[in-house]
Amino acid sequence: MPATLTKSALLLSLLLGLGQAQAASEPGPVALASRLGIPHPAVIAHRGASFDAPESTAAAYKTARDLGADYLEMDLQRSKDGVLFVLHDNNLQRTTDVASKFPERKDSPANAFTMAELKTLDAGSWFNAAYPDRARPAFAGLKILTLDEVIDIAEGNALHKPGLYIETKEPKQFPGIEHDLKVKLQDRGWLSQADSKPANGELAVGQGKGKVVLQTFEKSSLELLQKEMPTVPRILLLWVGEGSIEPKSRVTFADSGEKDKAVYYAKQEPKDKAEFQRWIDYAKAQGAIGTGPSAALTRGGDQSYSDLVQPWMNQYTHDQGLLVHVYTIDDAVDYQKVMDAGVDGIFTNCASELLKFYKRPAPASVDQVLKNNGY
Ligand code: G3P
Ligand code: CA
Repeated sequence: MPATLTKSALLLSLLLGLGQAQAASEPGPVALASRLGIPHPAVIAHRGASFDAPESTAAAYKTARDLGADYLEMDLQRSKDGVLFVLHDNNLQRTTDVASKFPERKDSPANAFTMAELKTLDAGSWFNAAYPDRARPAFAGLKILTLDEVIDIAEGNALHKPGLYIETKEPKQFPGIEHDLKVKLQDRGWLSQADSKPANGELAVGQGKGKVVLQTFEKSSLELLQKEMPTVPRILLLWVGEGSIEPKSRVTFADSGEKDKAVYYAKQEPKDKAEFQRWIDYAKAQGAIGTGPSAALTRGGDQSYSDLVQPWMNQYTHDQGLLVHVYTIDDAVDYQKVMDAGVDGIFTNCASELLKFYKRPAPASVDQVLKNNGY
């Protein structure tokens, strides 16, 4: 090789090396995420791969895991007899056959049932009825999962171990749930600070320091989570409305004259800039590592809320040394929009699509992954 080329190559490699060293030492969200062991940008599988399988069931979580999602997202509740389990809604009507199994208790909150009672419910058939194009016979009869069972799933693929992204859902209904969660995570070895030995030479999310992320909309729960698990990364979830950021307009959906909730929410905005900043400052003061703001979706729908990921908002959050993980986005046009606005990770029901968008395609198709797991 001519000497000039050798010198050029050397110079190039030195420059590249310098660039990498600078990136690692630079302040900013990429370096912050790296220090915390949180992938950047992060793929957070919202209630599992819940576009492709019934939310919060084994089918959804195994699919998200095997597609290569960074985190399994879940909403934590506690049964009448004290078992931690995973379910989004306050009651069981939408996602189970509670109305036929317990007709007289169909409107009761899920936490009014023992775990044995919850386990009698079919948490899969509703999906087949609601989404016939994605229905599978094996979804019928899927069960509500305990936290232990979700942890088993997270640990169950030798090649990819996702982390756990756990929301304390309506925590005021569950006094002490933050402590119960700590005890469970400790028992299961998920609170150890040391990185465990990677199976394939590459440290997976579920084996490093960012293996658990805790999230909540409730200030009181954020404070309890900090008290119980001060070294575990915590996210303050944000939206505009009661219990969160004060809106500019106090007109309710019912009084707004809007027919579509997404249109109503898209017009909702923080009272002023200072109100938004107060919430970020609060998150920072409580030791959170970031926020989980809502987004207004291009196609609307029931997961479209106020746009809290405008560039100035993300910039302010980053300036405070915090990350931004936005919820809940399923379309490429919105992935692009929020990434351009500066977010650091996305909650999605479509983990396979987000992985594709990030050029980290899954090792197999959704159909294949579902079949591999017996669905
Ligand atoms: O955890 C935040 C994200 O999941 C959005 O909220 O209502 O789906 O739990 P939700
Ligand atoms: Ca959630």
